[in-house]
Amino acid sequence: MSTQAFELLITGAQCHCPGGLVEVDVGIAGGQIRWLGRADASTKAERVLDARGLVVLPGIIDSQVHFREPGLEHKEDLESGTRAAVFGGVTTIFEMPNTNPNTDTRERLLDKLERARGRAHSNYAFFVGATAANADGLAELELLPGASGVKIFMGSSTGSLLVADDETLVRVLAHGRRRVAVHCEDEPRLIERKPLVASGAPVSMHHVWRDVETARLATERLLRAARRTLRPVHVLHVTTRDEMELLARNKDIATVEVTPQHLTLSAPDCYERIGSRAQMNPPIRESEHQAALWDAVRNGIVDVLGSDHAPHTLEEKAQPYPKSPSGMPGVQTMLPIMLDHVSKHRLSLGRLVDLLCEGPARIYNIRGKGRIAVGYDADLTLVDLKLRQRVVDADMQSKCGWTPFADMTLEGWPRTTVVGGQIVVHEGQLTTPGRGKPVRFWDVPDSQ
Ligand code: DOR
Repeated sequence: MSTQAFELLITGAQCHCPGGLVEVDVGIAGGQIRWLGRADASTKAERVLDARGLVVLPGIIDSQVHFREPGLEHKEDLESGTRAAVFGGVTTIFEMPNTNPNTDTRERLLDKLERARGRAHSNYAFFVGATAANADGLAELELLPGASGVKIFMGSSTGSLLVADDETLVRVLAHGRRRVAVHCEDEPRLIERKPLVASGAPVSMHHVWRDVETARLATERLLRAARRTLRPVHVLHVTTRDEMELLARNKDIATVEVTPQHLTLSAPDCYERIGSRAQMNPPIRESEHQAALWDAVRNGIVDVLGSDHAPHTLEEKAQPYPKSPSGMPGVQTMLPIMLDHVSKHRLSLGRLVDLLCEGPARIYNIRGKGRIAVGYDADLTLVDLKLRQRVVDADMQSKCGWTPFADMTLEGWPRTTVVGGQIVVHEGQLTTPGRGKPVRFWDVPDSQ
């Protein structure tokens, strides 16, 4: 029994609390979880959400998305990107700095925060892009409220951000303390092998050009630099068995992300089936590497899943390879794709919550998120584990309007998304727009 009056009471569901699934009702007020218990006639609430048959997960955190604003708004913007997020059950996103201009100064980070205010449907934080020019100032930049930390591109991808040499890499890592997120592809090797994809090459050459050694070499160089500077690093979208072997020996300094697409699509089939829609960096690889990623999910090497949502228009994607840009959308499909893997017993629901909620909160020191507990933020994702539905391009909220998973039938879908105690998506409708807030971090002293 509770004597408190709640703004929202979620009843009848099973909740994924820290110890696992329990039948418990959730009382919410002031944007926070205030009470977990069994409601009765005396429980007062302004609104009751009957969630019988559903499972309540901690709000899903996607710590790698590209939302393209400013400068590339024809592909996506902060409104459409966060709309895709909340439709996919994602309540918090960390957005990447390869916009135009790049997010590499204080002013540009503050500009993104200003743009997000009142328009973002999910909570948000922004990465600062590392460059040779801003390296010495990164210790200050990474502590700006609303910054999720520093991002390094070791190989060229979409945009101009690049830290190609070891000297600059060490200089970047030596300035600051927070965990640094890194895209590991070795730039000199990418340049050396580029002739393999001269015009006329098929897109199935993408993973031949950007080969296993390109990824392994960069990850090895990063780990060496991280040890030298004693700086914790987070290796984004790991794609190879070779890197997983390296990372397994360096878990004291490195955390690891894999994406749903690298766990689900494989070469060469994906390139034959969907062409340049399967083109991304680092590439989708053969099933032997995919099997190693799954092993790493099961044995704990992997800390988080991130979607690397990187939308490009179909017109852009239709250009002949290698002019076609790399990247695919994914923030809306990350949870259903992974729930489908749960339904097929490839991982447990508990491990999925670890990867999508607790993991990001732990590795990035996020305050008040990642678990269903009294005193935590009321970010919640209500899912129907038994619902079977087909993925269709027309349901995608992203401006790009397509998904690499089109036509797959998936079991397990988000039904309702709660952000800061507000029901933001319910029964396929955006019900409370623009309520997202900047994320707060334990290692940013003045974020309260
Ligand atoms: O394929 C990719 N696309 N990989 C990246 O690292 C960047 C992304 C983008 O922004 O398009």
